[in-house]
Amino acid sequence: MSASGGPSGFIHRFIPAKEADSPLALLLLHGTGGDETDLLELGRQLAPGAALLSPRGKVLENGLPRYFRRLAEGVFDLEDLRVRTHELADFVETAAQRNRLASDRIIAVGFSNGANIAASVLLLRPLVLAGAVLFRPMVPLVPDPMPNLHGKPVLLAAGRRDPIVSPEETERLRRLLVQAGANVTVHWAQAAHGLTPADIDAARAWLEGWETASGHRGRGQDAKERHT
Ligand code: MLT
Repeated sequence: MSASGGPSGFIHRFIPAKEADSPLALLLLHGTGGDETDLLELGRQLAPGAALLSPRGKVLENGLPRYFRRLAEGVFDLEDLRVRTHELADFVETAAQRNRLASDRIIAVGFSNGANIAASVLLLRPLVLAGAVLFRPMVPLVPDPMPNLHGKPVLLAAGRRDPIVSPEETERLRRLLVQAGANVTVHWAQAAHGLTPADIDAARAWLEGWETASGHRGRGQDAKERHT
């Protein structure tokens, strides 16, 4: 396990795959106030054999780590977001090369602010990730030009009672990703902004499906919805 500043100066944890031929590496991205250790246990629960790469956000908001600056709750500093997105994408590329992780095996797992930067990486640097599990995400930005996300699986895990992310916001993000060609699944939990066991079960099942398909999921563009 490593925990140094490492490439691009991100403090991070890297845990190699338990099985050398594991098809999966998870890029773990914490919420506001989290750090590089926050989602390690979640990563283990979601994919026990996978490699885990977990960087700490470099922006401090009242001392709390985040991945990019915001002007208010849900109002993002778009210039900073773009710069930080490319910085994170460069870090992931360098760490992937160093640790021999194929980019078509790297799935981001982000919560809240981490989900928002993961969505931003998908939209601005689509080649860096094979797909993403986004817990309580918002639309980070609307890219121009649109990326080509054909064949990339994305799980949006939303909370019906989330006071921060409205159902309309989840629908906006779903539409944006589908428009770019991603294969989007929306999972609705009877929950607020925090994660529940139902979210974790849904993400685990979704990842198992991805592993079974060995990253070669269908290119369907229609979003599927499941409800708990
Ligand atoms: C964000 O700033 O990324 C979102 O508002 C989620 C949060 O961190 O509260």
